[in-house]
Amino acid sequence: MPRALITGVTGQDGQHLAEFLNAQGYEVYGLVKGQNNPRIGAIVDEMPWLNVVQGDLADLSSLVTAVDQAQPDEVYNLGAVSFVAYSFTHAELTGDISGLGVLRMLDAIRMVGGMRDNPIRFYQASTSEMFGEVREVPQTEMTPFHPRSPYGCAKVFGHYITMNYRESYGMYACSGILFNHEGPRRGIEFVTRKITNAVARIHLGLQDGLALGNLEAKRDWGYAGDYVKAMWLMLQQEAAEDFVIATGETHSIREFLDLAFAEVGIDDWEPYVTQDPRFLRPAEVDLLIGDATKAKERLGWEPEVSFPQLVSMMVANDLDLEKRKMEANLR
Ligand code: NAP
Ligand code: GDD
Repeated sequence: MPRALITGVTGQDGQHLAEFLNAQGYEVYGLVKGQNNPRIGAIVDEMPWLNVVQGDLADLSSLVTAVDQAQPDEVYNLGAVSFVAYSFTHAELTGDISGLGVLRMLDAIRMVGGMRDNPIRFYQASTSEMFGEVREVPQTEMTPFHPRSPYGCAKVFGHYITMNYRESYGMYACSGILFNHEGPRRGIEFVTRKITNAVARIHLGLQDGLALGNLEAKRDWGYAGDYVKAMWLMLQQEAAEDFVIATGETHSIREFLDLAFAEVGIDDWEPYVTQDPRFLRPAEVDLLIGDATKAKERLGWEPEVSFPQLVSMMVANDLDLEKRKMEANLR
């Protein structure tokens, strides 16, 4: 039975990946930080087969212990401070966890893996945020980076240190440059889920409106469930390489609003949405659109869920969740 260790297992991608690997027959270990992390209970209820190990990307010794306990064949480093807006106000923390945390995990793997016959394979969660002020359209594996946030800068370090450990020590270490991917498990702080949750609540009479920042930004949005499969495929290749994972389509926040409100029969969302400068960022990433040709040709990977299907799935999920909360409150 192959063994995998996932950092960030309590996050959106960590949950999808843990389920995917479990279905593939893996023994799955999930790294969880904090002495009393409230998210542990929820994931253990949902995934009773998950082996929880303690560890923090800020603490090398805890990572060595976690890797030693799990003895994984594959490590997926998904843990990060991942919210771009938060990274502007917590730049040092973001650099430490999303940047140096990658180096610590690579060193933990070298320390524990160096004593084993079969090497540990490593996946780093790189991001389209590294392209930032994009130098070309669409973005590929060869597009230069120009990050626009402390988060993007930290991820560029994580990306290059992964490449450096591959080249310096012959490690099987690769990065997936994933464009935005969403779904019902997306954190409420991200724009897609903020919108679908608000649409559901407005429809149910629980909320009057929604305050957003920049509505003109464009993103290449896919479904998280499709994207975790690409992470796994990257670690099944003969040699470690980096891949862009994207749908090849881009849509503005306005287009997302069009589809989300239409799901509850509202064609004109303007009366419900206000623009609030608190949600603008000191520097913005205006346009992301990826070219995943390499992943299609070499991994046989393609996205399955379309943009309209994604929006519909998220609104339906939030309607269901909010209705269940209302029913529970009535009891
Ligand atoms: P997410 O939902 O925000 O999850 C982040 C995870 O990181 C959480 O499980 C969190 O644990 C964990 N974490 C935070 N600080 C940590 C620390 N000090 N030590 C160990 N774990 C820590 O993010 P996501 O959307 O699933 O994304 C997964 C990864 O892919 C991230 O690295 C993100 O930057 C990257 N990425 C995401 C996208 C996307 O569109 N979703 C695109 C490209 C790249 P707690 O629950 O304890 O806070
Ligand atoms: N969060 C948020 N809240 N974003 C808003 C809002 C708002 O009220 N209003 C407008 N936006 C705009 C942001 O300015 C940004 O241009 C866009 O919506 C998307 O914001 P997020 O959903 O927060 O995602 P992100 O693109 O900044 O970052 C996500 O994708 C990256 C991959 O490109 C995160 O998952 C990152 O971790 C990931 O690396």
